[in-house]
Amino acid sequence: MTDVGRHPRIKLYTLSEVVGIKGYVGNFEVKILKRARYVDEKECTSCGECAKVCPVVRPDEFNLGLSSRKAIYSPFPQAVPAAYVINVNECLGHNPVVCAKCVEACDKKCINFHMSDQEILEEVGSIVVATGLEAYDPRELDEYGYTRFENVLTSLEFERLVNAGGPTRGELIRPKDRKKPRSVGFVQCVGSRSARKGASYCSNICCMNTIKSTLVLKEHDPDLEIKVFYIDIRAFGKGFEDLYARSRRLGVHYLRGLPGTVEETPEGSLRVAVENTATGKLEIHHLDMLVLALGVKPAPSTQRLQEMLGLQLTPDGFFLEAHPKLLPVDAATRGVFYAGCAEGPKDIKESVTQASAAAARAIRLMHRGEITTEPITSEVVAEHCKSCGKCAEVCPYNAITVDVKKKTPAVVNQAACAGCGTCAAECRFGAIIMNHFTDGQITGQIEAMLEENPSEKILTFACNWCSYAGADYAGVSRLQYPSNVRLIRTMCSGRVDEKFIWHGFRKGAPVILVSGCHIGDCHYIDANHWTEKRVARLHKRMEKMGLRPERLQLAWISAAEGVRFAQVMKDMEALRRSVTREEIQETIRILEEAKKG
Ligand code: FES
Repeated sequence: MTDVGRHPRIKLYTLSEVVGIKGYVGNFEVKILKRARYVDEKECTSCGECAKVCPVVRPDEFNLGLSSRKAIYSPFPQAVPAAYVINVNECLGHNPVVCAKCVEACDKKCINFHMSDQEILEEVGSIVVATGLEAYDPRELDEYGYTRFENVLTSLEFERLVNAGGPTRGELIRPKDRKKPRSVGFVQCVGSRSARKGASYCSNICCMNTIKSTLVLKEHDPDLEIKVFYIDIRAFGKGFEDLYARSRRLGVHYLRGLPGTVEETPEGSLRVAVENTATGKLEIHHLDMLVLALGVKPAPSTQRLQEMLGLQLTPDGFFLEAHPKLLPVDAATRGVFYAGCAEGPKDIKESVTQASAAAARAIRLMHRGEITTEPITSEVVAEHCKSCGKCAEVCPYNAITVDVKKKTPAVVNQAACAGCGTCAAECRFGAIIMNHFTDGQITGQIEAMLEENPSEKILTFACNWCSYAGADYAGVSRLQYPSNVRLIRTMCSGRVDEKFIWHGFRKGAPVILVSGCHIGDCHYIDANHWTEKRVARLHKRMEKMGLRPERLQLAWISAAEGVRFAQVMKDMEALRRSVTREEIQETIRILEEAKKG
């Protein structure tokens, strides 16, 4: 942090928040709200004279309320810049100045109550999202008694307590009576791996954090009794198993099973009831202190940033990488990268590795000066555009701008467009050309495929990244599926326009399948949500027209689901057999009439 603060080519904005991001790779414009510090950060020497005279006392957030600070304070000892800050909401009054004791105490005259928040615009070429994480709040797990019993602590509070720079200078004491504990328990997976409360995923860091804590405690006091209640210990990293073994060798008891209840005895100790799942017995343990190993969850800013940058989230709420194996630090939006726990729970080593990779990816991109883009992008035919704004609404990359009020035609930013084709599929005026997947090219394929014996064909639209690859996988796996399947590849299922479906039925298709990546896996952020909506709309219209809606199917098939692909095709074949020639002729008649009308 200090190195970053001193680096001549790094601008560090503290007390700041990103409030808006516009643009695209190489040309991002970031709006930053920099909050007023009320202390001149260049002049302040952190002498602390101001804090000595400040009459306001508040819990210190850095020490999680285990110590106090003043309204003018340094957030933590190694804070960069090394300058104090005033929390104006806590200050007795700065407008008009009521107390001003800090102003009088400051010899260097660093305190300035006339400072105000600033809005800053920065132009950057690429963005690394490193928003970190938030610890789980264990208060909803009432059985552990956190906040009811003073001697039940979170792993973060425990860290501060045993830290040499912490509120007790590293001495472990029970908060209730400030006595040295003789026994300490750790409860694992608090807020993780639970279908009931908290998150269902593994938080990745808690097992090793607890093992480290047991080693620290044993180093301080070899006679201390330590018990760890766990589901299973996940010590999978380099050297981690050795640390686990060392902890056991030093006498730490690992008990398989999480406590069911925690009660406080009159002396302030804790009575912990746990079912030991290794023996199947109910055990009661008396402990002086209990530490809850907290799970982690996405940072609160994740959602806002996701909206600003048009990024994708996993069902757990962390940022989703463009590809889990091949592009693990890239976002689907070009020029955006991830580092650390923004992308998922990880330890320091993994975070550093990912941050280095993200920095290298960003440098590699910026170093070239210009980027090569795929020619598969959309284009607006200005004379057909009615400036309705639908294309801009559906674009997952915010690559289209249109001034609906001024009625100016939409404009596609070719560098930001990723080529999903959703805009072209949603434009009702035929004003968007999707290069390489034009309406003419796709309808041409439909006609060619249905030219002979259309009633025997299964017309299938498959997205390039999942379903088409799934078909490929079914093929190389030598899986049997009906030979009358006819595939039309689109980059994304979002490209499948309503008119392609009507055209297919008009040309005699008995059944049509639209297939794409599973929801949440679309390679164009959330373009397949629009596919889902479109198919639902088509089903309603088919019903109104007297056509069987099930003749149009939607299936999500991933690249690894060759077996599923083959099964879906077999189901489609069964469906096709249920469609008679008369039904097809009647469909053609209805659609031709509707076209004329
Ligand atoms: Fe497969 Fe969008 S890329 S559905």
